[in-house]
Amino acid sequence: MGPRPRRPPRRHHPRTRALILNTPSNPCGKVFTRAELEALAQIVLEHDLFVFTDEIYEYFVYDGARHIPIASLPGMRERTIAISGFSKTFSVTGWRLGYVLADARWLGAMAYFHDLTYVCAPSASSMGPPPASKSFTWLLRAARRRL
Ligand SMILES: Cc1ncc(COP(=O)(O)O)c(C=O)c1O
Repeated sequence: MGPRPRRPPRRHHPRTRALILNTPSNPCGKVFTRAELEALAQIVLEHDLFVFTDEIYEYFVYDGARHIPIASLPGMRERTIAISGFSKTFSVTGWRLGYVLADARWLGAMAYFHDLTYVCAPSASSMGPPPASKSFTWLLRAARRRL
């Protein structure tokens, strides 16, 4: 399962602004290959799109598969909004703690929208340092490094 690099997309609606990419994927477990991501990146660049990624399972890859953030491909860093969370990597499902990695120029608008719709993490999750706080810091540093 995945895009077929040799075939152009069958449809691109003129109002399409973004793609949503979940890799490694839940529930099917698909890990997009570099060739598939390059094919997607080509479409994104050609049509001036954003990509919203969900890479929450990035540390759950098996059988020699490798997770490649699409943001690491040429021209994709400033077009990728990576939305992720700590729940899978640190087994804290239900804490509802997450983070976004995006180019600084988009963060103002995102913070504004976030403030109007969500405001903050649940107080129970914010009350004390998470048990794996050093690991959280490590994870964020690792995520930043890969861009
Ligand atoms: C692909 C994917 N992204 C995000 C989430 C959200 O995780 P959480 O609500 O635990 O932060 C899930 C949860 O199952 C998921 O499967």
